[in-house]
Amino acid sequence: MHIDLYERFWMWSAGAICAAFFGTIVYGLVSEGTRPPSHVETIDPTAVWSDPRFAQPGVTANPDGSVTVTAVALMFAFQPNEIRVPAGKPVTFRLTSPDVVHGFEIVGTNANTMVIPGYVAQFTTTFATPGEYLMVCHEYCGLGHHAMMGKLIVEEAL
Ligand code: CUA
Repeated sequence: MHIDLYERFWMWSAGAICAAFFGTIVYGLVSEGTRPPSHVETIDPTAVWSDPRFAQPGVTANPDGSVTVTAVALMFAFQPNEIRVPAGKPVTFRLTSPDVVHGFEIVGTNANTMVIPGYVAQFTTTFATPGEYLMVCHEYCGLGHHAMMGKLIVEEAL
């Protein structure tokens, strides 16, 4: 079968691009530890505030020095709105939504997840650099979406 030179060039180019994209996924998986942030933990979205897992959103220090942040994303705020965590320690975020799909991104870090009603989004990360970080919702959730933000304060570890 005769394949035109240019046709062949573009076929190989398309193949190379696919291989490069797949390579970035494998690189992220192996070298950067990238994983899907949500795990399959369900919650009744109509009963978030009375659920013991989310009844008291906030920061909990664990005996091993790590920290767990429990937060609720709702129209149009994060509860709590200001979160303080130590630098250099593993921080596990646990989030859910009582209303619609929200996003949770901490600008300038690798902390980023969707927050889906009915599920608990969980991921663990470590913040190396102390400072103030902006938390934003990056899923359009309604008229107040642009105002849905909060502050993460990473404090120098003692
Ligand atoms: Cu919440 Cu956009």
